[in-house]
Amino acid sequence: MTSTTPILDALLTRRSLKPKLLQVPAPDMQTLQLCARTALRAPNHGNLPVCRFILIDEASREKLGELFRAASLRSGADEEKAARRASKALKGPMLVGFIIRRFDGAEAPLDEQLITAGAALENFLLALQACGFGAIVLSDSCREDPELKSALGIDPDETLCGWITIGTPASDGQPVPESRPEPLGVWKM
Ligand SMILES: Cc1cc2nc3c(=O)[nH]c(=O)nc-3n(C[C@H](O)[C@H](O)[C@H](O)COP(=O)(O)O)c2cc1C
Repeated sequence: MTSTTPILDALLTRRSLKPKLLQVPAPDMQTLQLCARTALRAPNHGNLPVCRFILIDEASREKLGELFRAASLRSGADEEKAARRASKALKGPMLVGFIIRRFDGAEAPLDEQLITAGAALENFLLALQACGFGAIVLSDSCREDPELKSALGIDPDETLCGWITIGTPASDGQPVPESRPEPLGVWKM
């Protein structure tokens, strides 16, 4: 059995923390930039810029909530549901959008591009954890809404893949035991 190292420990114990388990302080800009830079180290066929992050300025989160509310109403939600949706813009100490871009016709097929984006996201989450911060990625139910995308400066070729809520862990929780099957198999003849 291989002995672990701090990096292996971090890999084996990363976990997401719901917004209610995250408190201030959030990372400062320098730390956030450092963590975002680790996304560039994801394996990348063709060196394509397949993903990026958008930090929501603290003073603009109310406005984001209004955009969420409007998008939710456009999708057919009633006022109550739209208000719940709007409140998500204010949850947690810091909110960062995760955007992916597809390059049709590139040498790297779309699934490879997606793998790169996923690896980039995981690097970002692990880097945050290494800096003492917790985070969770949650989907946007209105991610395809063209007006929401346009207001956020997201191109039609891009997808609003999720929102990353970031903050300081409110408690030292234990990692949830792994319940999925071992992902490594062996093929031999
Ligand atoms: C792009 C993306 C979107 C996600 N959206 C949701 C979501 O809307 N709701 C949810 O419960 N989990 C969502 N998850 C999963 C959580 O972020 C998290 O991984 C899950 O709760 C398992 O926790 P763990 O990361 O500690 O294993 C999403 C994950 C990714 C990568």
